[in-house]
Amino acid sequence: MKTARPFRVMFVCLGNVCRSPLAHAVFESKANDAGLSVEVESSGTSAYHVGDHADRRMRSTAARHGVTIDHRSRQLEPGDLDSYDLLLAMDSENLRDIRRMRGARDATADIRLFREFDPVGPGDVPDPYYGGPDGFETVFEMVDRTAEALVDEIRRRAES
Ligand code: 4NP
Repeated sequence: MKTARPFRVMFVCLGNVCRSPLAHAVFESKANDAGLSVEVESSGTSAYHVGDHADRRMRSTAARHGVTIDHRSRQLEPGDLDSYDLLLAMDSENLRDIRRMRGARDATADIRLFREFDPVGPGDVPDPYYGGPDGFETVFEMVDRTAEALVDEIRRRAES
């Protein structure tokens, strides 16, 4: 069944300056290329970087691959658990924090680990913030292939 409104997806990490803004930009670009009707956003479980641009190292890694990240960090809010259809946690700690925010109440969003959709296998997207430059490239590769698979999955759901 085709949905009448865009499918709403939010990527969530800790700071919303490295992993989730990258996933946001990469997925949005691939979804638009595929003609999917989606609204895409990202947020952080912490308030550490609220209002900040994405990390310069993440932006330059993305730019080398032709992806522009243009996002200001914002914190995940309880209302996001109802206004988005799918919340994707970049690592298992983020997943735990989102579930903790949900608590015992019902929330409409499907809450999943992002790399559940990784064709290479599930796992965390490691936090590159305190590591060297290789970490950003590794994160890009994981995010790129997983975002591709996610586009395929959402397209299949929209067509069924
Ligand atoms: P992110 O990376 O969760 O991928 O945005 C981090 C950015 C900043 C911090 C931690 C993780 N920090 O502690 O400031």
